[in-house]
Amino acid sequence: MSPFSRAASKLRAHLNYLKEENVTEVEVSPHNLAALQQRLRAPRASTPSPTPTAAAPIANAPVAGNVAEELAAIAAEIAACQKCRLCESRTNTVPGQGNLQPEIMFIGEGPGAEEDKQGIPFVGRAGQLLTQIIEAMGFTREQVFIGNVVKCRPPDNRVPMPDEMAACLPYLERQIALLKPKVIVALGATAVKGLFNDPKVSITKIRGQWMSYQGIDTMPTLHPAYLLRNPPAKREVWEDMKTVLTRLGRPIPAPKKRS
Ligand code: URA
Repeated sequence: MSPFSRAASKLRAHLNYLKEENVTEVEVSPHNLAALQQRLRAPRASTPSPTPTAAAPIANAPVAGNVAEELAAIAAEIAACQKCRLCESRTNTVPGQGNLQPEIMFIGEGPGAEEDKQGIPFVGRAGQLLTQIIEAMGFTREQVFIGNVVKCRPPDNRVPMPDEMAACLPYLERQIALLKPKVIVALGATAVKGLFNDPKVSITKIRGQWMSYQGIDTMPTLHPAYLLRNPPAKREVWEDMKTVLTRLGRPIPAPKKRS
C-alpha cells in the first residue's frame, strides 16, 4: 500500500467515525481540497507528474513525483490527526506549502486565525511580512517551502504547549527528511524549541548563529510577528538572511528603493 493510500484509508476511517457520530458536514479549505483533487488526478508513482514549479530541473522530476506523493500522504494524515487537543478547535489543518526541492525551508510556530481559515501557512499579517522577506532575498514563495512546528491553530494564538509540539513534531521531521532543504530558517523561539527539543531557548541570544538540524544548516532568526511589534529588529533579520544567502552561494540583492 502506498503512503498516500495508507493516509487516505486513515482519513476514510476518521470520516466514517464522524458519520457514526451524526456529523453530516466537514469543512475543507479550498487549498487542501485542491491538493487532494490534484493527487487523485495525478498519474501513479511509476509515471510521476513533474514538480509544480518551473524552477525544478526535469531530470529530478521522478524524485519530485515521489516527494509530492509522500507529502500529500503526510497532509492527509494531518487532516485526520487527533493526537492533541488542538484538533478540537481547528477549522483547517495547515500542513505547509511550497517547492518540493527547496533551497530554503522556513519553519514557524503554528497557524494563526487567517491560516486556520485558509489552510495555508503564513498568509496573515506576519505572513505578508515573511513574503516580503522571501522576495527581498530574491526568491518567490513558490521557490521555498513554508511550514510550522504545529499544524493546527492554538486557541487565541497562544504558544503551543510542549505536549502539542511533541505530538506534531513527527510530521515536521518527515517533511524535512523528504524535502531535504539546503538550509532551514527557524522563525522565532518556538520553532527552535520544537526542532531542537530545547525548552530554554532565548532567540535574541542565539539568532544569527548557525545550528545543525539532522546535518542541515539551520539559521535561527526572529519571528515576523515580533518584527511587526518591533520594526527596527528587521535589520537583524536581514543580517541573518544575508548569512543564509551567502551559505547558498546566492547574490545579496540590493534593498529596494522606496518611492
Ligand atoms: N505564524 C506562524 O508561526 N505560522 C504561521 O503559519 C502564521 C503565523
